[in-house]
Amino acid sequence: MNPSNGHEAVIGGFYTESPYPWRAHTLQQPLDPELYPALLSQAVGDFGHRRVGPDGAVWVAGCGVNQALITAQRHPAARVVGTDVSEGSLALCNEGRKELSLDNLELRKEGLTAARYHEEFDYIVCTGVLHHNPDPSALLQRLAAALRPTGVLEVMVYNTYHRRNPVAFQQATRLLAGDTGSVAGTGRALAEALDIRNSLASDLAETRLQPDAAFADTWLNPYELTFTVDEFRALAERCGLLLEAPRIGPDDHSGEAALWDVVLHDAALQERYEACDDHTRWRITQLLLAEESPYNWFYLRRADAPLPAPSDASRNAAFLAARAEPVAAAQRTWALHGAEGYRVLVESSPLPTMPVAPEFRALWEHLTPERTVGQTCTRLGLPTDAQTVRRMRAQLTTPEFPYVLSVPA
Ligand SMILES: C[S@@+](CC[C@H](N)C(=O)[O-])C[C@H]1O[C@@H](n2cnc3c(N)ncnc32)[C@H](O)[C@@H]1O
Repeated sequence: MNPSNGHEAVIGGFYTESPYPWRAHTLQQPLDPELYPALLSQAVGDFGHRRVGPDGAVWVAGCGVNQALITAQRHPAARVVGTDVSEGSLALCNEGRKELSLDNLELRKEGLTAARYHEEFDYIVCTGVLHHNPDPSALLQRLAAALRPTGVLEVMVYNTYHRRNPVAFQQATRLLAGDTGSVAGTGRALAEALDIRNSLASDLAETRLQPDAAFADTWLNPYELTFTVDEFRALAERCGLLLEAPRIGPDDHSGEAALWDVVLHDAALQERYEACDDHTRWRITQLLLAEESPYNWFYLRRADAPLPAPSDASRNAAFLAARAEPVAAAQRTWALHGAEGYRVLVESSPLPTMPVAPEFRALWEHLTPERTVGQTCTRLGLPTDAQTVRRMRAQLTTPEFPYVLSVPA
């Protein structure tokens, strides 16, 4: 067994003891197989919906318990493969697969070090995985090799500014555990025994209210690496990849934080900030927002992709030039029913569920395939500066905010 595989056995054991996340109480299954592939394409600025088609191939790498189920529901016409090293997580996921009748999902116990896919997938998701491994670059290379030339790779790695306390606690625990062989036991005891008042103690107290699996994932993880956005970009480039566009994070209900934007109350400075290339702007944003900065959660593409260079400016321009209309779709809601597992709770209800952001309600109501989005903005007197259009795209056209679909010519 080589050292990486030995490492994967440790990680697999850890996540078998504490599968993460826990089973989702409800799952929303969109009834239109084209909706989420189209929203995903829009998130990377493709308003012609060509980057990710509905019937492609999708890989959820390090899928945990729920992510492969959610992905297979959102891409029902695609072949979806979910892999993980945690038998416990895969067993729970497989129960869900059967209960939800997801015939398009195949699950495999497979470590990323062993994966040998070649240009096979149109869309790959790998979130919360690479940073638990000693050599993320070797694993990201496997993902890059598996991606088709124009495919979309979605990756999240821990943001250094978010992880100071968990990393400190994990290190202190390992030092205290010494050669007792019980890192988890020591960590739990330490969390109870601490009587200090600082941000570490208050973060610990907050997670103690969550299920055990969340506590273990944050505070007891055997391995954890963290990245600034600059280090993430360097990692991606070493693997022949580019950070393409930010993806909205899980706790970001407004869509604001994930925009990697700061507002500067000085017109000249704001102009200079906007004139920076995307990556420099993301760096400045992360440095200034620090612990409030967004997740390092990005869509990546192959550096050699036969596509025009990506930029926020070109994504904004593509949206303003697109013809679009409000989404009027439906979804089926599944809920966990004790030992019976997932059962249909509501056969069909409208999607999206929440009202559109008030700032963009008028635009949303007036969108029509008769005019471009830019023309509708002009009619309504809406500003189309870079930050506003980034917010519009994030809060109207992405998988997290499924309010608007372009109508490809
Ligand atoms: C924090 S969980 C995230 C699960 C899922 N990606 C999500 O976002 O819901 C991390 C998962 O990655 C898996 N994992 C970590 N390293 C891996 C590797 N080298 N190969 C395959 N799976 C791995 C773990 O077993 C665990 O299930």
